[in-house]
Amino acid sequence: MDDLRAALADPSRAAIEEVVARAVCEPAALFREIGEPDTAGIRILYRASDLTVINAIWAPNQFAPPHEHRMGAVIGMYGGREDNMFWRRVAENGTGNIELSGGQALAAGDVTVLGRDVIHSVVNPLARLSGALHVYDGDFLAVTRSMWNPETLSEEPYDLRTVLTTPVGGL
Ligand SMILES: [Fe+2]
Repeated sequence: MDDLRAALADPSRAAIEEVVARAVCEPAALFREIGEPDTAGIRILYRASDLTVINAIWAPNQFAPPHEHRMGAVIGMYGGREDNMFWRRVAENGTGNIELSGGQALAAGDVTVLGRDVIHSVVNPLARLSGALHVYDGDFLAVTRSMWNPETLSEEPYDLRTVLTTPVGGL
C-alpha cells in the first residue's frame, strides 16, 4: 500500500499502473497478501480520502451495468477476464442517455487506466470466478455518481447500497 500511496504523486497514473502490474503478474505473491479468491464479492483492502483499493471477485458470468466513477481508476486482472464496454453521453439530446463507444477485453495480467470521465459496463464472460485489483484515486465509496439502466440506457443515481448489499454490484 505504501507503493500505491507514493504512486499517487504521478498525476498520469502511470506509476499506479506500474505498481498494479507488478502485483497482478505474480498472483501467488499477491494471494499471500489478500487471500486466494474463493467467493464472489467486493473486498475493500484500503480506503482513504485520496485512495481506495478493492479486491473485486466476479461471479461466473456476472454483469455490472453502465456506471461512472468520477475519479481515475486502474484495473489490474489477476485471474479470469473482465470484458469492458465503454459508453459516452449522448450530448445532443440532453437526456443523460449514453451510446456505445468502444470496448476492451482484459485477461489475467492485463492492466488498464480509466480516466475520471469514463463510463463502462463490465461482464465476466467466464463460467468461473474472475478477480481484479481496482485502485481509485479518491474515496470510491463516498462519491456521488451515476449508473445507467441497462435496458433504457437512461441515467439514474448510483445507489451505494447496491454496491454494499450485492456480491459485486457494479464497480
Ligand atoms: Fe467500474
